[in-house]
Amino acid sequence: MTVERKQTLGVCYYPEHWPEERWETDARMMAEAGISHVRIGEFAWSRMEPEPGQMEFDWLDRAFETLHAHGLKVVLGTPTATPPKWLVDKMPDMLAIDKDGRPRGFGSRRHYCFSHQGYRDESARIVTALAKRYGKHPALIAWQTDNEYGCHNTVLSYSHAARKGFRDWLSQKYQSPDALNRAWGNVFWSMEYRSFDEVELPNLTVTEPNPSHVLDFRRYSSDQVVAFNKVQTDIIRAHSPNIPIAHNFMGRFVEFDHFAVSADLDIASWDTYPIGFLDRDANDVETKKRYLGIGDPDNQALHHDLYRACGAVRNGEAEGRWWVMEQQPGPVNWAPWNPAPVPGAIRLWAYEAFAAGAEVVSYFRWRQPSFAQEQMHEALLLPNAEPNEAYGVCKQISGELSAIGAVSAPQRSDVALVFDYESAWAWHTQPQGRDFDYFDLVLRFYRALRQHGVSVDVVPPTAEAVADRKLVVVPGLFADNETLVDALVDGDATILLGPRTGSKSADFQIAEGLPPGKFRKLIDMKIRRVESIPPFVDVPLSEGGAFQGWREFLVPGEGVETVRTSQDGHAAQLSQGRVSYLGGRPDPELAASVIGELLAKTGIEGKRLHRDVRIRDNGKVRFIFNYGPETVDVGDVLEGREVLIGQNPLGPHDLIAVRL
Ligand code: GAL
Repeated sequence: MTVERKQTLGVCYYPEHWPEERWETDARMMAEAGISHVRIGEFAWSRMEPEPGQMEFDWLDRAFETLHAHGLKVVLGTPTATPPKWLVDKMPDMLAIDKDGRPRGFGSRRHYCFSHQGYRDESARIVTALAKRYGKHPALIAWQTDNEYGCHNTVLSYSHAARKGFRDWLSQKYQSPDALNRAWGNVFWSMEYRSFDEVELPNLTVTEPNPSHVLDFRRYSSDQVVAFNKVQTDIIRAHSPNIPIAHNFMGRFVEFDHFAVSADLDIASWDTYPIGFLDRDANDVETKKRYLGIGDPDNQALHHDLYRACGAVRNGEAEGRWWVMEQQPGPVNWAPWNPAPVPGAIRLWAYEAFAAGAEVVSYFRWRQPSFAQEQMHEALLLPNAEPNEAYGVCKQISGELSAIGAVSAPQRSDVALVFDYESAWAWHTQPQGRDFDYFDLVLRFYRALRQHGVSVDVVPPTAEAVADRKLVVVPGLFADNETLVDALVDGDATILLGPRTGSKSADFQIAEGLPPGKFRKLIDMKIRRVESIPPFVDVPLSEGGAFQGWREFLVPGEGVETVRTSQDGHAAQLSQGRVSYLGGRPDPELAASVIGELLAKTGIEGKRLHRDVRIRDNGKVRFIFNYGPETVDVGDVLEGREVLIGQNPLGPHDLIAVRL
């Protein structure tokens, strides 16, 4: 039984930025636009505690009351992303230290070090005060811990606190310096340690540090984010029972293990800025031009699926909850260029999230400030408080949501795409080719699946996550994870592996018996050589499509069929029974044909869609999106169903919802 929840809109609000006389009007206008959830508080420490120990909550009480009086629900953020100046001055060693050994200064945000115990205690103090005061407030609908852990490159800190913590962490993991030396291969370059107290952090070395050292430091640093977050969730649960806790994760951000943090959260949420992200994907110029005002058609969707999986970690799939905590409402201020959304984009983004099961789509932010760093970031209201375009879009969406009775009801897909944070760290540490990027690799396979209209579950590399699937895709999973291999051996899914899957041990050494290591239980093959290639050269395959940036020289074992070959005569894809291995990073054409063939083999309904069209079924409703600038006839995917929103042919940047 899946739990159905009503879908609704929200907004991020900073009452402390505006005169109190204005709050009433703001709350009324929010309610009039059909907004129900209002996030407040997450940066307001200097107003909650202007002097050490002197708490001032009267203004926040009144903000709660004003919102409550208009029937609005409050999401309360803990303010620990912005420790105030007095706190930094009291405890200067709480500042994070960058790779070059310099403290990160005061004057923006996220300047703290996750390993610093003193700062954890201070966080616990302010969170306790908030949880006691508001934990049972009738308007409170959820908590948000901190804000965007890791934003501005802040997960890794090379501080004294981190060094001490890392040494303790290593001594627990390895028990003896000898075991550490063996796991890291420290005999190389005389890097051997006699005690854990000799181990330094992997920065300021002359040339690259040992990748095993870096990987363990990244694991340690990720664990600190988990621990920091847990301090807050334990306190909140003690004083605010039954109120769900969320954190707002980011896009294209892999610096800590989001599945591990999510184990302490009830709701996963993320902050989506599709136009801002367009520049970060490895798209060609033509694609970037085509989607300039709407964003990559698959980037957001991949994150929706990833965070839906995060939302399910704590309470299971049927109860899995996820939101969009911040949605772009107009041009932002932080990308290299900040184009405006095309007409229709803001509405399409909301439905892309609802279609993927988001309960809430919350806009960042209510009113554009005329001051400070984000004064060029648009909002639902202009700086002079007149409604901006996105305010009108909210009204339209909330009307439509009530008409279709939109509910989120998580569905399990037959297709699982494995996503692993450690792999992102590993390939960042040792890319072997400048542009080898794990997220990009996963996106290539995700895109190919979505181009066939298939709804995908993005899952962690665990046995449960891949159980009972029809198709499992495992790109670039660095470690030869035996549990996963055994689960795949036991199941009967069609499996696509590679490139680079299983090529290392968990300690970061080349897999025993050559890559793909333990995955050789699934397919009898080995890889004798890999090469990385600069972007101006492709490796074309005889069957069409090409490898870009990365290819492997595959040696098939007995009974293994060569399914694709490079034009220069090397095996490019192997297959044995239900398992295939792809030996390179596919260009879009290759990714689409490989996935198309596997879907057909697996018997999953999927047909290649028009380049701009994407569809998503959420159990009750099928949504069809047009990301492109031209009108498209989508009669073939409507299949004569009852139309709830929109019409065919589908206009540019528009959508249709039909009843399933
Ligand atoms: C997010 C952040 C917000 C705001 C927003 C601007 O990363 O959580 O506080 O800075 O970006 O787009």
